[in-house]
Amino acid sequence: MPRFDNQTVLVTGGTGGQGASHVRAFHAEGANVVIGDIDAERGAALAAELGTRAHFIRLDVTDESSWCAAVLAAESAFGALNVLVNNAGVQNPPAPIEKTDQATWSRILDINLTGTFLGIKVAAPALRRAGGGAIVNIASTMSLGGTAHYAPYVASKWAVRGLTRTAALELGRDNIRVNTIHPGVIATSFIHEPAVGATVAIADFYSPEPFAIPRLGEPTDVSRLLLFLTSSDASFITGSEYVIDGGLLLGPALQTEAA
Ligand SMILES: NC(=O)c1ccc[n+]([C@@H]2O[C@H](COP(=O)([O-])OP(=O)(O)OC[C@H]3O[C@@H](n4cnc5c(N)ncnc54)[C@H](O)[C@@H]3O)[C@@H](O)[C@H]2O)c1
Repeated sequence: MPRFDNQTVLVTGGTGGQGASHVRAFHAEGANVVIGDIDAERGAALAAELGTRAHFIRLDVTDESSWCAAVLAAESAFGALNVLVNNAGVQNPPAPIEKTDQATWSRILDINLTGTFLGIKVAAPALRRAGGGAIVNIASTMSLGGTAHYAPYVASKWAVRGLTRTAALELGRDNIRVNTIHPGVIATSFIHEPAVGATVAIADFYSPEPFAIPRLGEPTDVSRLLLFLTSSDASFITGSEYVIDGGLLLGPALQTEAA
């Protein structure tokens, strides 16, 4: 039997590079999928492509009323909500802290951090009504160190770690598990297209050749980990952080010739 039969999963940023991969992966495993995103055109197209068991709702993660409508839509369409994936996220245009304006700082924090907070807040009662469930917050390897010129993004993703641990403590007794995934460099428009207000993309600076597994990550790499973490196979895992980066954080795998 598919792992997610009779389960309903809400994926935010569900039309993006990784989000759409997650949506497809859950759907292929039997789940009802609710695609939440601000991009209505891509959302409608993805829902139409998947057909039954797929529903798109325009969700702006920074808006609590938008969250309430999305959770209500999931329960109305499919009877319950079992899994929430807080995947929506944006990067800042690269700039040193001294040249980062407050509006940029606030926008990144609003989407990446407040969006995740609101998702947990609004979805938790629905997961409880379903008898329990799982939440996965997508952070980043950038939430495990510093990255020059990405202060808003780094700070927002570090904060998601603290939020995740706190939510895990608050919700564990209700059979709701909360974990983070820290992707490394994943081949989506996120790295191939400049952030809003920027002229260069991350991929322009990044070469995977020196790293242990010398390729970019694929969205499906992350989807497979996500499916494990939200499945019953992971029923004793909560408040944990999963790095999926092909060894990026290990540092360069440059080797010298043996003497
Ligand atoms: N691609 C990478 O290398 C990488 C690495 C580490 C972490 N991440 C994280 O993975 C997640 C997915 O990124 P991706 O690579 O798929 O990027 P992406 O740009 O393809 O997707 C991001 C999605 O979020 C949506 N979105 C933006 N603002 C929103 C809002 N206010 N409400 C709802 N949806 C909104 C966008 O429409 C888009 O569909 C993000 O949280 C990102 O920070 C990405």
